[in-house]
Amino acid sequence: MKERILDDIKNRRTEVAVIGLGYVGLPLAVEFARSGFPVIGIEIDERKARSINEGKSYVEDISDEELREVVQRGLLKATTDYSKVKDADAIIITVPTPLSKTKDPDLSYIMAAVESIKPHLKKGHIIVLESTTYPGTTDEVVKPELEKTGLKVGRDIFLAFSPERINPGDKKWKFKNTPKVLGGVDPESTEVAAALYSEVLDHLHVVSSAKVAETAKLLENTFRAINIALVNELAIMCNLLDIDVWEVIDAAATKPFGFMKFTPGPGIGGHCIPIDPLYLSWKLKTLNYNARMIEVASEINTNMPRYVVGRIQDILNDMEKSVKGSTILVVGVAYKKDVSDTRESPALDVIALLEEKGARVDYHDPFVPSITIGEKEYSSVELSKEKVKGYDLVVITTDHSSIDWKMLRDSARVIFDTKNVYREPSPNVIKL
Ligand SMILES: NC(=O)c1ccc[n+]([C@@H]2O[C@H](COP(=O)([O-])OP(=O)(O)OC[C@H]3O[C@@H](n4cnc5c(N)ncnc54)[C@H](O)[C@@H]3O)[C@@H](O)[C@H]2O)c1
Repeated sequence: MKERILDDIKNRRTEVAVIGLGYVGLPLAVEFARSGFPVIGIEIDERKARSINEGKSYVEDISDEELREVVQRGLLKATTDYSKVKDADAIIITVPTPLSKTKDPDLSYIMAAVESIKPHLKKGHIIVLESTTYPGTTDEVVKPELEKTGLKVGRDIFLAFSPERINPGDKKWKFKNTPKVLGGVDPESTEVAAALYSEVLDHLHVVSSAKVAETAKLLENTFRAINIALVNELAIMCNLLDIDVWEVIDAAATKPFGFMKFTPGPGIGGHCIPIDPLYLSWKLKTLNYNARMIEVASEINTNMPRYVVGRIQDILNDMEKSVKGSTILVVGVAYKKDVSDTRESPALDVIALLEEKGARVDYHDPFVPSITIGEKEYSSVELSKEKVKGYDLVVITTDHSSIDWKMLRDSARVIFDTKNVYREPSPNVIKL
């Protein structure tokens, strides 16, 4: 059976089902299709499935043209119908892995996807989990569920984990040219899954187990979370020392070895950096180990919006104003520049905290026309000279490229710049 599967992969006869067509799943589905594999996308959101079939992309990294190219060639179709899984040969799961209200891993999306796949499983199926998760999920949670069908992993079906590294908005590093890690739950699974991915990727790094692959992903994002926490705390310390943190970081970054530049900001956001490290620390809690570095980093990063609001309070105080009753414009609600994703965005916390203190808050974001925070709905206001002049304070939380920063600086009374947009000193700009 294995020889036939490998031959099908080589000859593009392997039909690939991608479960969950979001920021990760859609680019992956398009890349497999572009490489000549027939792809069926299974997406519970009917509007997304329809949009794909109409060649309209809702993910910035994929243009309508790129999508239409594979849809029109009949290589990519989307559906809400899980029964299509039985016609597929490989199943790649890219559903969300958020945290629960109590900040524990929420595997309900993975489990729902696995439950929906089960009735359609057949001999020879290759299943690859891509959703970021804690070490052991593939072996200890997914594998036993799949084996309830009577099919045995490594003999009848194949199971692997391959973490996703996509960096939304990145023009250089895409799905195809970013090296990818993959590990199966047994050598047979590793071999078959690696053969499939090798056809599509420029470089695949195969590891000895799914657990290693799961943990490698968590190391990557924990590394980021901890380093961002370090520079966020440095920003707080530099403010107390009356030193420009940005100048300090630029100076340190001239060291050609042993230093990697990270920059502070109003907190961390997105579906990965604030969440993934907590998957690792949660797993360690089950083994009575407290992952202290992760806990401290998470605490520092989570507190940044509160720190930003504290600084705003001080700035207004110097202007003999209180937060209550002040008009504040928040520039940028997406969690990073040039994307529309607002998941876990610290700007939302900044807005909520300012509102709680009685400020009247508007926002501007060219990528996010409207947003709901708590019970309140907001629409992005236009960024004109007259409008900007009317606010007591402007706070920059996302440094989108398309914003007219000069006009903003020339029109605003006071700007609190948490992103170092203004590198040159200016009397009305105060930096984090
Ligand atoms: N966004 C990123 O930059 C990024 C990067 C690396 C890894 N990841 C990881 O990839 C995974 C997916 O993240 P994402 O950002 O693509 O999420 P997303 O919310 O953009 O996409 C997930 C999609 O899955 C669909 N879905 C949910 N349950 C489903 C089900 N049972 N069946 C079919 N479809 C279902 C949703 O409707 C949605 O369209 C997560 O584990 C995340 O941590 C994300």
